[in-house]
Amino acid sequence: MTFPYTKEVLEHFRNPRNVGKMEDPDGKGLEGSAACGDMVAVYLKVNPDTLVIEDISFESYGCASNIATASVITELAKGKTLEEAKKITWKEAANALGGLPHVKAHCSVLAVEGLRSAIRDYEEKHGMVVEKEATTT
Ligand code: FES
Ligand code: FES
Repeated sequence: MTFPYTKEVLEHFRNPRNVGKMEDPDGKGLEGSAACGDMVAVYLKVNPDTLVIEDISFESYGCASNIATASVITELAKGKTLEEAKKITWKEAANALGGLPHVKAHCSVLAVEGLRSAIRDYEEKHGMVVEKEATTT
């Protein structure tokens, strides 16, 4: 294949799922990439009893890879508990997209960091943060 993007990446890029700002989110994450200066925001609605992500949306100020991974990550995370959603990796997202160009790996890492930061925000607001969480990624 000479074209760098798979058809799944292009499809998510052209038609991103769960895109847009959420009013009154329960958790919100904003992450920026030191590599390219792009940013991604992730918003969550969480069921306080089951801790299931009932709704999720994102805004991306990044490239096609970032938009496509953020889109696929929202699909992967919706309906999962916070603990399950924390385990979503950029590789899983990249696989769901049929692969990403290697130089674009950090664009998908950025999307995953946005999700994790939104989860952390929810946990902090609800007094769920455990001290030993200093080591991430
Ligand atoms: Fe910045 Fe991909 S180049 S998010
Ligand atoms: Fe910056 Fe991809 S080049 S996140």
